[in-house]
Amino acid sequence: MNVEDELSLVHQAIKLAEQGHGTAEPNPLVGCIITDRNGVVIGEGFHENFGEEHAEINALNQAGKSAKGGTAYVTLEPCNHQGKTPPCTEALIGSEISRVVIGTKDPHNIASGGIDTLLNAGITVDVLDDALCKELLAPFARKIQTGLPWVTCKWAQTKNGSLETPIGDSPWISSKESQQLVHEERGCIDAIVVGVGTVIADNPSLTARGSTAFRTPIRIVIDPNLRSPKEANIFNSEAPTIIACKKGQDTSSFSHCKIVELPSNNGVLELAPLFQHLVSEFDTTHVMVEGGATLFTHIFEQKLANELWIFVAPTVSNTEPIINMNTICKQLDTDCIHKDICGVDTVLRYKINL
Ligand SMILES: NC(=O)c1ccc[n+]([C@@H]2O[C@H](COP(=O)([O-])OP(=O)(O)OC[C@H]3O[C@@H](n4cnc5c(N)ncnc54)[C@H](OP(=O)(O)O)[C@@H]3O)[C@@H](O)[C@H]2O)c1
Repeated sequence: MNVEDELSLVHQAIKLAEQGHGTAEPNPLVGCIITDRNGVVIGEGFHENFGEEHAEINALNQAGKSAKGGTAYVTLEPCNHQGKTPPCTEALIGSEISRVVIGTKDPHNIASGGIDTLLNAGITVDVLDDALCKELLAPFARKIQTGLPWVTCKWAQTKNGSLETPIGDSPWISSKESQQLVHEERGCIDAIVVGVGTVIADNPSLTARGSTAFRTPIRIVIDPNLRSPKEANIFNSEAPTIIACKKGQDTSSFSHCKIVELPSNNGVLELAPLFQHLVSEFDTTHVMVEGGATLFTHIFEQKLANELWIFVAPTVSNTEPIINMNTICKQLDTDCIHKDICGVDTVLRYKINL
């Protein structure tokens, strides 16, 4: 098999891995394809559920005895330790596979060492150091390496950079189809963050609706001075809620939710301790920040965002926004990683180079 065909198999394994989003975390998303000694695909698998079989095991189970003498294409270095399941290296060695092609190395100290174990067992190992495999692993790697979750800033805007619709139009900027996409993603992540301005203006529920919700994200409001109305929808019983406020506030009337006190500098809350708390307390992998513009500017200034997910509607706001998202985006160092159409909206994904 030539190099391009092999790379294409690894990229097919990425597509498999992505199906685990929402159920595999806090473990990494991993996909695996196994070919027999003639290069014919005989097994496919991905890490489906946290605590259950890893991708390699699911693919080996499908491949059966024909894996002997074959090759495994796996997006991440096979794990080498007994965790909730036995080491994948052991299963690969037991299958008498002859070669393992690895998309990227494991940044996790506990699980790494798989390459050496495979080599010591006489298996040929090739590490591709592939950019797309690294992108797939990025949320997990960020958490392991920094103690911070992967932060996606998501918003809907008009063509001229406003987060508000033209006066007289529907309050929803994006199409129904785009809103549905957001609900699906909410059902796959760990936490949603908004500023208190959004809670007061829109009274959102911030729940995953109209789709299969694999997770119930924690709702977090950045509310330094405890201005959130007690009757706001974010305090309903559909999901837990955390209010992040300035240290030293009288929190006695907020017994209906959890409070996290944050240090501040000239009235601006430091948000890194909040994100660190989410990782240490809840093993959070993915956070989605849903606005508004004031909160986004603080997140960008504090260099805490990893990705932008922007829904650009075909409308144009009839007033110049106070904070223009087009201008803000130009100030960030980003790479566009995806462009699509959803309903009438253009959907853009940018990776932020921190
Ligand atoms: N199109 C969209 O996707 C979208 C999404 C969300 C919201 N919106 C719209 O945006 C508008 C609300 O946005 P906004 O910019 O006014 O409000 P916001 O960003 O939701 O909230 C801003 C407030 O949150 C607090 N805050 C946020 N980060 C902080 C930090 N790091 N340190 C200290 N305080 C912090 C401050 O509260 P204090 O004032 O108490 O200090 C600040 O005034 C609404 O009209 C809403 O409809 C649109």
